[in-house]
Amino acid sequence: MIQEQNGTFYLGNDHLSLLLRRTPFGKLEQVHFGGPVDIGDAPALTCRPIAGWGVELRYDPAVNWSNLDTLSLAWSEAGRGDYRESPIELFREDGPVGLDLIYLSHRIFQGRAEMTAPLPQAHGNCETLEIVLEDRTGDFTLHLFFTLYPTALVRRAALENHSAKPVQVASLMSMMMDLPGRYDMTTFNGRWSREMHPEQVRAGQAKVVNESRSGFSSHFHNPGFLLSAPGAGEDHGAVYGFNLIYSGNHYAAIQQNTLNLTRVSQGISPGHFQKRLAPSEVFETPEAVISFSGQGFNGLSRNMHRFVNENIVPERWQRRPRPVVYNSWEGCRFDFDEEKLLSLAREARGIGCELFVLDDGWFGARDHAAAGLGDYSVSPRKLPHGLGWLAEQIKMLGLDFGLWFEPESINPDSNLYRAHPEWAIHSDPLPDIYGRGQLLLDLTRRDVREYIVQNVGTVLDSADISYVKWDMNRHSVALGEKAHDYILGLYEVLDAIFTPRPHILLEGCASGGNRFDLGMLSFAPQIWASDDTDPVARLDIQRGLSYLYPQSAISAHVSAAPHHQTMRLTPLTMRGNVASFGLLGYEFDLDRLTDDERAELLEQTAFYKFHRELFQFGAFRREPAEEGAECWQVQAGDMALVGLFHRLMPVNPGYEWLRTDLGEKRASYRITSRRQLSSIATMGRPGTRIPPEHRGEHDFWADELPSMTASGAALRAGVCLPQRFAGTGFREGIRMQSDFGSNIYVITKLP
Ligand code: DGJ
Repeated sequence: MIQEQNGTFYLGNDHLSLLLRRTPFGKLEQVHFGGPVDIGDAPALTCRPIAGWGVELRYDPAVNWSNLDTLSLAWSEAGRGDYRESPIELFREDGPVGLDLIYLSHRIFQGRAEMTAPLPQAHGNCETLEIVLEDRTGDFTLHLFFTLYPTALVRRAALENHSAKPVQVASLMSMMMDLPGRYDMTTFNGRWSREMHPEQVRAGQAKVVNESRSGFSSHFHNPGFLLSAPGAGEDHGAVYGFNLIYSGNHYAAIQQNTLNLTRVSQGISPGHFQKRLAPSEVFETPEAVISFSGQGFNGLSRNMHRFVNENIVPERWQRRPRPVVYNSWEGCRFDFDEEKLLSLAREARGIGCELFVLDDGWFGARDHAAAGLGDYSVSPRKLPHGLGWLAEQIKMLGLDFGLWFEPESINPDSNLYRAHPEWAIHSDPLPDIYGRGQLLLDLTRRDVREYIVQNVGTVLDSADISYVKWDMNRHSVALGEKAHDYILGLYEVLDAIFTPRPHILLEGCASGGNRFDLGMLSFAPQIWASDDTDPVARLDIQRGLSYLYPQSAISAHVSAAPHHQTMRLTPLTMRGNVASFGLLGYEFDLDRLTDDERAELLEQTAFYKFHRELFQFGAFRREPAEEGAECWQVQAGDMALVGLFHRLMPVNPGYEWLRTDLGEKRASYRITSRRQLSSIATMGRPGTRIPPEHRGEHDFWADELPSMTASGAALRAGVCLPQRFAGTGFREGIRMQSDFGSNIYVITKLP
């Protein structure tokens, strides 16, 4: 609900509320953002300086508390007494433009305010407050949009140049707010193959900045971050979440002042940024997403997950089950032919996969990473019968067919580059810099965008293709307006290709998670989370992602062991169990499967498909676990699945408890586990002591929890699991799990 009373604005629902106030001198105060309050609470929540703190500038001579540096504001600018971070900076030839933005008007309406820029926007049921600020010179108006969705507030700004002269926008944030108190800031950082590793710092009086200047939202610093009250935990304490619906350079600054107010701003990074705004032109920022939970990090994640599932991903993919994928990359790289692909597809079908994805290497001279990007005509040497035929064969095997593209990049060793070297982004007059042997195509050019739309579209229409993996493997070096216009161009291209082809499931990818953001999720409902498919590394990556993004967005595959990056040997069970808490897929050479592995894989996919709805769309929680272990729960209604993952096996492992919060204290629940198969040969000497009646047909051991019963209250307190193998002999019910042991427990309510 949004309402206005005598200059106080209220936006609120069951999860969060925002109170704003127009001061008598026209500035926009932020009275409250956090848990639900009422409009009548505004006086009690307003920060009110009485006598001030000395040597301050008084903005309005008639109001003794009008020092802007001391107020809690929802927007501000430099040069009028507020010395904190300014969300707006404009320049003309003669230097910075002084601004004094004051309230002009407002309107409240159902729905969102559409943008003119081709930026993605949140969608769904919502209500909007638009407040227009006008510069005292009359040269500029600034439109601030506050759109309320069920679990998040979305903000953006639009600046209009009413003057007769152009102006350079050096910085315009999507949002700015002052929050009361002090916070810990959690950011999600990394690099290639190690994305989303959280780091927490106390956001004190020295400014903390979370920024990407690599051209993309980046694996270095995800645009999403959290602010938590000191001491907040997974299930208690105030936690704020912030994100940006944008895939380019981003920036967020947090700084506390000496009066216990913390300023937060977020938007496009001003680093290397500049946008020329001609007279009567408007510059629109991307949307910033802000959420709050008083129930700790899990509460905040729940809000963010719901927001992504309901208000970000394209409506046609909302809550729509996603297929179990087989992807050719890690199994084949560039080295395949029709026979190999069809043999893999047969095996993939045999283990329960539903979609076969032909990754890199199917076109032009693409036998290695240094050639062919740009030429999407099928390689007659590798696929002499063409894509249409291949897709048909794969369909006949009972699988859907998907295809990989990297349409934003170009290898100089390609026909496209030889025909159009000017289509690449160069560094003139400096020498070009290559990433993975490639340059980016200049998506700010209309002819380039049209070419990509036409070229990719033709391939997509030439065969029965129901999935596309859209990859991008080099960082941008574009500066200034180009960096932003490139992202606008990308959005335009994605829209033009995929809106008319709604049957195609689009998966985003940028060397893994180099562009895992709400902008890409607005087009691609799922993203390849990381090129690191080692399940132990994935525990950290998927856990990091889980703070801000739902399982339905996280593409996660089982790959070979020893792993190609970490050289780690992990059980197939661990690989499958970790990947199941995302969108399960497989990518390794299935032609070398043993019978035991084949049997385990078939059970994995069957279990996943049986619980698909829960794994992909269930409410996700990070649960407490013993040291070195990880525990995740997905729940819907009366049912939950709990994944318990171990890292290294301690000697004589201690007790372990399964703690979950299923709601009904008095109800009874049955606890079972996934029946998972491990080869007895991998157990060494202990394996030889497993009695014959417990060995399967192929000499494997079925690890399965004997069925247990517990009340909701006992589950909350923690149900003690049977002992893990400790070298003290084999007994019925013992959990035979060594290094990287794991299982998924199934909790169902009993009638
Ligand atoms: C990088 C991606 O992250 C991989 O999954 C794979 O598609 C390769 N590119 C192909 O070149």
